[in-house]
Amino acid sequence: MTPAPMGQRSRVLDMTRVTKTFNGDVVALRDMDLSVNSGDFISLLGPSGCGKSTALRLIAGLSNTSAGRITWAGGQSENDLGVVFQEPTLMPWATVAQNVWLPFRLKGQSYASVKDEILEALRLVGLENFLESYPRELSGGMKMRVSIARAMVTKPRLILMDEPFAALDEITRFRLNNDLLTLKARIGCTVIFVTHSVFESVFLSDRIVVMAARPGRVIREVHVDAPYPRSEEFRTSAEYAALCREASDALREAMGEIA
Ligand SMILES: Nc1ncnc2c1ncn2[C@@H]1O[C@H](COP(=O)(O)OP(=O)(O)OP(=O)(O)O)[C@@H](O)[C@H]1O
Ligand SMILES: [Mg+2]
Repeated sequence: MTPAPMGQRSRVLDMTRVTKTFNGDVVALRDMDLSVNSGDFISLLGPSGCGKSTALRLIAGLSNTSAGRITWAGGQSENDLGVVFQEPTLMPWATVAQNVWLPFRLKGQSYASVKDEILEALRLVGLENFLESYPRELSGGMKMRVSIARAMVTKPRLILMDEPFAALDEITRFRLNNDLLTLKARIGCTVIFVTHSVFESVFLSDRIVVMAARPGRVIREVHVDAPYPRSEEFRTSAEYAALCREASDALREAMGEIA
């Protein structure tokens, strides 16, 4: 599957004036509007407590909105979502291949019936030689690759990633950023990615949604028009530096450092 060019992309979901309040007074998220189109790579960038995880949990249906609505184009289906968290959350007693089988197993599909998909997903994240390994035998970056393979193996309509690379060293993180874009180009997935990192958000996204806290809200959207695939050349370009400055200014504004 190749991603459709801009303009021909179909809608995946809409968040309309979504508000989430906890205990009656903590406004975790206020009036969030977001339209997600197929093939989008959207980052939610903002300081701690601005409602990034809350937004993902609402989209994932793990929590209900207090006001506003989230609408899936064409209605919801069984295969809407793949989710990757900061911790790889693998089952330690199961092999790499068995871990990636999990979303199919939960739907009652046997290993044999989806073996090809599992192999393909592990090949795409570069782990085709580790099918029979156990999580304890893998590095942090490799575990995260398994987690990504598991999230995409069913080819969901939307992949949610909540600071997936935050616990990794910078070199591993850069490599996984590159690999994630390669993966996106190959399978044409749609991603909402939460990060604290300006550099990561600019490198990966076509849209950066900058958020502020107390109350959690969207304050700005930064568009990154640089074409994919993006390489080290983009990472060291003047365009990249200028976009990082723009996102960084928006983030400082979100943190109240600019009036
Ligand atoms: N289950 C909950 N009960 C009460 N308050 C909550 C709950 N979940 C989140 N909050 C509050 O909502 C606000 C937004 O939290 P959220 O976890 O979405 O922020 P975040 O942007 O993901 O932060 P971080 O970058 O630290 O992960 C915070 O003030 C948080 O304390
Ligand atoms: Mg969070």
